[in-house]
Amino acid sequence: MRLSLRFIIPLLIVLEVIAYAVVPLVDRLMTQWSIKDLDLRSKAIASAAATSLFDGTNNYSVPKARMQNILNRLMEDERLYALGFCNDKNALTYRTDKLPGEVSCQDSVTQESEFKSETLELSKGPLHVSYYPLKGSGGVMVGEMILVHDMSFVRTRSASTKQYIMYFFIFMGAIIAMITVIVAQLSWRGWLSGTRALLRGEGLLRPLAPGSAPELRPIAQDLRKLIRDLETERRFRDDSQSDWTPRTLKELLHKELAGDEVIVVANREPYLHVREGHRIEVQTPASGVVTALEPIMRACSGVWIAHGSGSADREVVDTHDHIQIPPDHPRYTLRRLWLTETEENGYYYGFSNEGLWPLCHIAHVRPIFRSSDWEAYQKVNEKFARAVVEEAKTKDPVILIQDYHFALLPRLLRQRLPKATIIMFWHIPWPNPEAFGICPWTKEILAGLLGSSILGFHTRFHCNNFLDTVERFLECRIDREHSTVSFRGERTTVNRYPISIEFPGRLQRQAKSVEDARKAIRTRYDLPPDHLLGIGVDRFDYTKGIAEKFLAVERLLELHPEWVGHFTFLQIAAPSRIRIDQYQHFQLEVRELRDRINQQFRTGTYEPIILQMSHHEPADVLEHYRAADLCFVGSLHDGMNLVAKEFVAARDDEQGVLILSQFTGASRDLPEALIVNPYYTDECAAALHDALTMPAAEQRDRMRNMRGILHDFNTYRWAGRMLIDAARVRARNRFLDRVAMYDLLSSS
Ligand code: G6P
Repeated sequence: MRLSLRFIIPLLIVLEVIAYAVVPLVDRLMTQWSIKDLDLRSKAIASAAATSLFDGTNNYSVPKARMQNILNRLMEDERLYALGFCNDKNALTYRTDKLPGEVSCQDSVTQESEFKSETLELSKGPLHVSYYPLKGSGGVMVGEMILVHDMSFVRTRSASTKQYIMYFFIFMGAIIAMITVIVAQLSWRGWLSGTRALLRGEGLLRPLAPGSAPELRPIAQDLRKLIRDLETERRFRDDSQSDWTPRTLKELLHKELAGDEVIVVANREPYLHVREGHRIEVQTPASGVVTALEPIMRACSGVWIAHGSGSADREVVDTHDHIQIPPDHPRYTLRRLWLTETEENGYYYGFSNEGLWPLCHIAHVRPIFRSSDWEAYQKVNEKFARAVVEEAKTKDPVILIQDYHFALLPRLLRQRLPKATIIMFWHIPWPNPEAFGICPWTKEILAGLLGSSILGFHTRFHCNNFLDTVERFLECRIDREHSTVSFRGERTTVNRYPISIEFPGRLQRQAKSVEDARKAIRTRYDLPPDHLLGIGVDRFDYTKGIAEKFLAVERLLELHPEWVGHFTFLQIAAPSRIRIDQYQHFQLEVRELRDRINQQFRTGTYEPIILQMSHHEPADVLEHYRAADLCFVGSLHDGMNLVAKEFVAARDDEQGVLILSQFTGASRDLPEALIVNPYYTDECAAALHDALTMPAAEQRDRMRNMRGILHDFNTYRWAGRMLIDAARVRARNRFLDRVAMYDLLSSS
């Protein structure tokens, strides 16, 4: 509207000026036409009168009464104001009453005299006075007739004409203004939608659609360049920043997302409070998500919203269900959310862990989908959405949502906090469309995830699987080159952000020396000081390949009996999701396998496999890593697997060998590990043998390279890259907001 007014007001001024210039011109023309008109009338009247008055001689001998009669009849014409008659001596012989004194016979009337007229401005108004020569036979002048017309009607006509002209111009102005507004609005809307499309990236790659505003082409070019510059700058910043520390991340957060708050949503809380008799103990759960995110929250502050699942969790929170953590040195807030048993069973054990977990992992466990679980899942996602809104201090917080427990949350939050930057990270693999299509609520899950601004996976392969699934099940637009999905008018960037760990690790500084750790662990498990030790650290989960690792140990001892009595494989298996049947069966199966293998190779107190089915705190796990000669990660399928990275981070002595399943995301980041197929028992046994016999120099070279990678790609960089991208999305959205505001103002 503002734009239209800017055009219309000058237009109206111009029209006004034109109207003022035109009116006097038209006025003059009107007067001239009226005078001509009066001249003609006067001639016609005079000529008719002359015929009645003229007796055929060259003398006027009309009786006075008759003359008066004729003049009176002529005076019936309402426009005729007065009449006069002059004889050939220029004497006024007859006149009507109103003939003004200022009008008299012409002095020099001759045979050549013609009709004449003039306008007299008298006090009573303008008068048109015409003199009509009366000629006898042979053209002899016999007299003159004076006709006076009242010209006030010309004034009235002229005033009306002026009025009509003004009305005409006003009407014209209104019509032109209206057309201008309509055209301006249409083209402005076109421009706006074009600009929006450009900002969304549409038309940036392809030429703009035919018919779209041609004036947008140069803008498209500029925007294309701008976005390319931003991308380059982003990449440059990301690449040039080799040292990613908590401080870098904090600075980035404040610079790029100035003053913005971070809200993390993860089902698993970073600290659990557990009642042990009269004491309340703090536990750090075994979860890759916690390992990667906790250092980030320490650096950035903010709120972590999670299910309060510890037995003493409720006892330690404040009235808002908040607790400041880490307990020893509080840096951020944990908001605990309470679930009923039915909710926990349906949402966590049921839909998340009996449905989505086996669905996304190729681990040969049949996913189970129950309608009641799906209902609980939806309800709990809603519950978390409400909690996020309660915790958000601004309209546009940065929300980091973690994992498959919250597939619906991005969309729920997009509806409640439309300006929020929503980063969703899917920590587990994403299978191909056929596999994912098994889920009866595939479309709902996809639509839920596409409420996020950024959707992250660990590997490109999982991003592509996701895009293929979206393509198969939803009507949307996928831009493969930029890896974006436009769905219901919103755009989600689907990107690969390989997760990592804190490096150098916080606990490392207080850790025992490798030598002390070796001694301590060997003493703890009653092993000789020079005994070779392999370590496995997992949740007790069927995706982790624990049974496959045991089979590989068995095969190693069969193929290389020299290791019997000299090598032990120690598996730490933190109990996990134990209410689920599949997990109980799996535990049983693994225990039986351990027993069978141990029985086979037992000599004295020696057993080749130690299975520790209990929770171990991070410092304790670190000690095991440092004490081991090798670490075996045998996942059958894993998004990333941070145990592999933790082992490398723990080995500042640059010794120890990592055996890593090819089915983990980590195998792409750590190619210097011995990469194995956990299903191929002989290959794994050979890798174990290679690891146990690998020269120290080779161990050092491999470990050094892997530590270099961790140094460059630690968890701060993982989060930093997402935040840089989030900042870009926010900048783009803010710009779109400004365009929308302009749109609103101009249409109000
Ligand atoms: C995987 C998931 C995490 C989860 C962790 C532990 O790493 O990706 O989201 O926290 O397992 O599982 P739990 O069910 O004990 O939280």
